[in-house]
Amino acid sequence: ESAPAVIVAIDGPSGTGKSSTSKAVAAQLGLSYLDTGAQYRAITWWMVTNGIDVDDPSEIAAVAGKPDIVSGTDPAGPTITVDGVDVAGPIRTQEVTAKVSAVSAVPEVRARITELQRSIAAAAEKGIVVEGRDIGTTVLPDADLKIFLTASPEARAARRSGELKNADVHATREALIKRDAADSNRKTSPLAKADDAVEVDTTDLTLPQVIECVVTLVEEKRAAK
Ligand code: DC
Repeated sequence: ESAPAVIVAIDGPSGTGKSSTSKAVAAQLGLSYLDTGAQYRAITWWMVTNGIDVDDPSEIAAVAGKPDIVSGTDPAGPTITVDGVDVAGPIRTQEVTAKVSAVSAVPEVRARITELQRSIAAAAEKGIVVEGRDIGTTVLPDADLKIFLTASPEARAARRSGELKNADVHATREALIKRDAADSNRKTSPLAKADDAVEVDTTDLTLPQVIECVVTLVEEKRAAK
């Protein structure tokens, strides 16, 4: 007898441990995994590579449907390609990171990526953990479980600069706060906690503690299905 498919939405700002937590939870529970930030980064990489002016929303909107973005959903080795090109490395550059908020604020971009996300979730037979900013509020409002991860700005900046090589903690903190403000204040589908999401403050928790907390919540939901 197999467990029923379970859909888990994990949202929150950067540096809260969202990706590490989501991947580990999916791996432990045998679920698929989708990093929606990687999709927004991938479309941003394509815009930059093709010389699109990212300060011009109408230019972005006009070509939003062009790139073919494919996500591999194995939590042990998630992949992302654009028109068949592996972009896992290039989407993490500072240039893409600095431009992703502007590109992901364009409604035509969000409509396109949201549709892709819903079809990936629907195809995940055993269920899926989807991480992002608007998964519980907009992409998958009927998710079985919604988690909203938070942490103090200091903790988030420290974690982020630990991930990036040679990063300056102060500059990282400023860039991160600026990006979160842009993501939270945009008109279309901003970063927000869904009313029915469980908020987990990770400031004083270790990664294994956060993972255990979320795994327990998913198991409870699965048992109740
Ligand atoms: O999770 P991340 O830092 O890789 O996400 C990169 C950017 O993508 C983030 O600054 C905002 C955008 N994003 C979004 O608008 N909606 C999502 N569901 C996920 C990411």
